[in-house]
Amino acid sequence: MQDTWLQDTQLGKKPREGFSSSVGVIAATLGSAVGLGNIWKFPYVTGQNGGAAFILIYLIAALLISAPIMLSELMIGRKTHANAVGAFKTLAKHEPWFLVGVSGVISSFLIMAFYSCVAGWVFSYVFKAVAGTIESTSPQQTFAVFQTLVNGVGEPLFWQLFVLAFTGTIIMAGVSKGIERVTKALMPILFVLLLIVDIRSLTLPGASQGLKFLFQPDFSKISISVILAALGLAFFKLSVGMGTMTTYGSYMGENENLPKTVLTVMLSDTLVSIMAGIAIFPAVYAFGFKPDAGPSLLFITIPTVFSSMPFGRFFMILFFILVAVAATGAILSLLEVPVAYIVEEYKISRRMATLGTIMAIALVGSTATLSTTLLSQMHIFGKNFFDLYDFVTSNILLPLGGIFFAIFVGWRWGFEDMFEVFSNHGRLKNEGLARIYFILVKFFAPVAIALVLLTGLGFIQF
Ligand code: PHE
Repeated sequence: MQDTWLQDTQLGKKPREGFSSSVGVIAATLGSAVGLGNIWKFPYVTGQNGGAAFILIYLIAALLISAPIMLSELMIGRKTHANAVGAFKTLAKHEPWFLVGVSGVISSFLIMAFYSCVAGWVFSYVFKAVAGTIESTSPQQTFAVFQTLVNGVGEPLFWQLFVLAFTGTIIMAGVSKGIERVTKALMPILFVLLLIVDIRSLTLPGASQGLKFLFQPDFSKISISVILAALGLAFFKLSVGMGTMTTYGSYMGENENLPKTVLTVMLSDTLVSIMAGIAIFPAVYAFGFKPDAGPSLLFITIPTVFSSMPFGRFFMILFFILVAVAATGAILSLLEVPVAYIVEEYKISRRMATLGTIMAIALVGSTATLSTTLLSQMHIFGKNFFDLYDFVTSNILLPLGGIFFAIFVGWRWGFEDMFEVFSNHGRLKNEGLARIYFILVKFFAPVAIALVLLTGLGFIQF
């Protein structure tokens, strides 16, 4: 960052803000990757799809496809020090590439619409855990509490607004004073909380069955569709395909080793996912419950399980705080994409841009939150609003974005220009790695992602 600040100052421009340290870079980027996906999606999908065998496939998919796309985004961002749209406008003037950035802004908006709804439920559960209202060993009871929440109108809307106001305040504080400072404090807390809950879960009698569910490798479960599921998950998990990483890359300094950052983030994110599985499944099995998917695991089974164990309320509070922490880092990165875009392309103050963004998200997000109640009659393509936003982003916009990021680097940018950024102007001696990366983004990733895209849309069937 230093060099750019210097340049900007010499040109008489106001210096652009950025991350102030390598630790901050890792914290913010990892904060974006770690999210609700680690806690309910990854562990469950792993357990259902062959345990350790699936983790292996996931790692390969993350390493060969998601990580290269993430690196492409970071490089495009750092090269231009501009938002997702501005970055393409700088690198490919008068060409339609900026539309990739526009698609990113739209994606982040739509993901926020449903993500802030679920994050709202999580935040409300922190308070419910403290108050003791979700403390019950009867699944019927915890089910009833969850139903009352999601079938309400005022309560879920209030919590969604709460999340937006909370994260919006952090965004307003700025890139290094807001995002970097908060994620730097939150990431270690998340890790310690996970460790505590892991130890509690592992020391319960009968925990080993849950470990078996999570880890026992079963290669017979691996099929084409499981491989595609791993690929899709690796994509969403690392927040790629929608300009988040372009935006964060634009705040990184010239001395950050970007390939190393990507590897560190990817491996740490996978570790968090595995640790989340260890927190959940041994406990679930120890009390004779069956693992379930999505909302019912997190909001119905988990409270019941924790209520059944000694010091359950304490661990339940810790658990929901850690989920809220995970969601916060992801939301910050989602918000930053439109905010950076508005600030830079329309020269609007950060404060106003953030305010406008969260108000607009509150409006669109309320249609997701009310999609099972007031708006339950409204369906588009046979889906309610919540599912529609999820489907359009995860199954269409993110993979499409990913393909274009890869194609841009592989076919439009070219090796020489790319390598300048990859190697920090030749200071890092990593040409071998750069060649492997280049082949991956030029040929392998676009084809593999296209397969996932077409399968997800039902054009190809296995
Ligand atoms: N990676 C986040 C998660 O696992 C989700 C996310 C996707 C965040 C895209 C930002 C951008 O929950």
